[in-house]
Amino acid sequence: MIRARITGTGSYVPEKVMTNFDFEKFMETSDEWIRTRTGIRERHVAADGENTSDLATKAAERALEMAGVKPEELDGIILGTITGDYPWPATSCIVQANLGAVNASAHDVSAACSGFLFALSSAADRIQAGNAKKMLVIGAEVLTRIIDWEDRNTCILFGDGAGAVVLEAHEGENGILSTHLHTDGNQLELLYQPGFSTKIVPSVEALENRDYFLKMQGNEVFKVAVRSLTEVAEEALEANGMTSEDVNLLIPHQANIRILEATAKRLKLLDERTYINVDRFGNTSGATIPLALDEVNRAGRIKEGDIVLFNAFGGGFTWASALIRW
Ligand code: UT7
Repeated sequence: MIRARITGTGSYVPEKVMTNFDFEKFMETSDEWIRTRTGIRERHVAADGENTSDLATKAAERALEMAGVKPEELDGIILGTITGDYPWPATSCIVQANLGAVNASAHDVSAACSGFLFALSSAADRIQAGNAKKMLVIGAEVLTRIIDWEDRNTCILFGDGAGAVVLEAHEGENGILSTHLHTDGNQLELLYQPGFSTKIVPSVEALENRDYFLKMQGNEVFKVAVRSLTEVAEEALEANGMTSEDVNLLIPHQANIRILEATAKRLKLLDERTYINVDRFGNTSGATIPLALDEVNRAGRIKEGDIVLFNAFGGGFTWASALIRW
């Protein structure tokens, strides 16, 4: 059986670090509030002129280097992002040009915080169907450009970063065992960016409404997130005839320590098997999972044959899981 196997991981975060104390200087908040309500201590912020394509390219170069794959060997690039350089064309086109991946198709996936897993699923499907041998999957965001720096409910949560994986066709039992993807578009206004696009075009009124910024009703999102993240992880285990006892590592979407812990507890994985780095990066949306994966992989924490579970939840709503035998 042909499976898509992760043969390289890479990540990149901008140099500039912004701590909770930096927020105290310009808004009514505190390090204590942010830490206890979210688990976040600091996040990275892209420099002026540093864009999603730049972060994505750097993460991709590192993943390709680890895999020993040349850019021209790639059949396709799929990038999960909601903060592309332009409305169109896809930011992955810029990454394709930056890398010199001349034989790769490139497109973006817009599934917010689930974007990387939606992209991973499509890339794995292409490999398993025999339509590609080597794929590059990226999650990259510059969220600090779409957050409202006057809204203390949201601006303290997000950061910038990128993570990437190289997927290669592999004969055998190792690789992506399953992916599960879900969407519920009925509640999209609980977490979305209204403008600017074809529905809300740039105007004085739209600017005054702060329509360009990410909007979230955090409390409502929180409840749905915990339930969906748990269910989609259980769905992955059940589909593969496994239980949480079989899982060596859970890499969840890093949105909020309380969401992570509540989900891990329900899954009976609230121990050293759940990887958490939201304290250092905040919520980087589509980038959280590949960024965390690269950290654990480079730290040598994943052995061949390990069962690794990913789950994510985000705007749309979208939610997803992937189960991997490393
Ligand atoms: O990536 C997937 C999508 N996103 C998420 O999964 C995030 C989901 N939501 C959350 O993480 C949480 O709901 C938040 C961290 C956003 C908020 O935590 P909460 O425990 O749900 O707080 P809350 O919204 O119920 O607010 C509690 C209080 C409010 O004051 P009042 O109305 O009780 O007087 C807020 O105004 O905390 C206040 N507050 C703050 N205080 C200090 C909100 N933000 C801040 C802040 N500093 N930054």
